[in-house]
Amino acid sequence: MYVIGISGSPRKEGNTSILVKETLKSIKGEKRFIPLGDLNINPCKSCDRCWKEKIECVIKDDIRWILRELKRCDAMILGSPCYFKSVSAQLKMLLDRSVSLYSEKKGCLTNKVGAAIVTQDVGGWGGALVVQTIRDFYDTHRIVYAGSVVGVGGEKIGHVKKDKPAFERARKLAGRIMELVKLTKRG
Ligand SMILES: Cc1cc2nc3c(=O)[nH]c(=O)nc-3n(C[C@H](O)[C@H](O)[C@H](O)COP(=O)(O)O)c2cc1C
Repeated sequence: MYVIGISGSPRKEGNTSILVKETLKSIKGEKRFIPLGDLNINPCKSCDRCWKEKIECVIKDDIRWILRELKRCDAMILGSPCYFKSVSAQLKMLLDRSVSLYSEKKGCLTNKVGAAIVTQDVGGWGGALVVQTIRDFYDTHRIVYAGSVVGVGGEKIGHVKKDKPAFERARKLAGRIMELVKLTKRG
């Protein structure tokens, strides 16, 4: 079982990364944590070459190898801080650029397993909308949805550690991910 956890926060050690890593920790098998905040990533230019030529995305940056990792993994955990009730720009770049996977080989992510991790402000709002965006991405790629956790983060890095119920849900989510990977790989 190979599971990747991606944090869309520009703060690579931030609250979202902490919660994604907590989920990964309970996964038994090969795992990899990828903080987008560290990487050279760019938005989709809608050049349409992936559509027309059925090739991988022509933009040569870090999203290229991350898309290959998405193809290779059994399950993915996509994390994002809630920014104006939506995903961070960093995660949105990855979601949009995944259109090349859809064009290159339609269905190449079908029946992989996906989960969503979101952090929002103390007393904040909008995390559920961020989860919905990630869930819509999974639906588009026919990825099996395992569930989500919305944690209380905020400006202070590490604050999410005080959200014990979110940590407990993250561990349970890891269990559900492993269960679904076993089910979807059977036969
Ligand atoms: C540009 C920006 C927009 C934000 N918008 C929201 C919001 O709509 N709702 C909310 O609850 N928190 C909002 N926040 C707070 C972050 O979601 C919160 O601090 C999050 O835990 C930060 O995650 P990180 O530590 O992984 O960077 C916003 C923060 C920033 C920087």
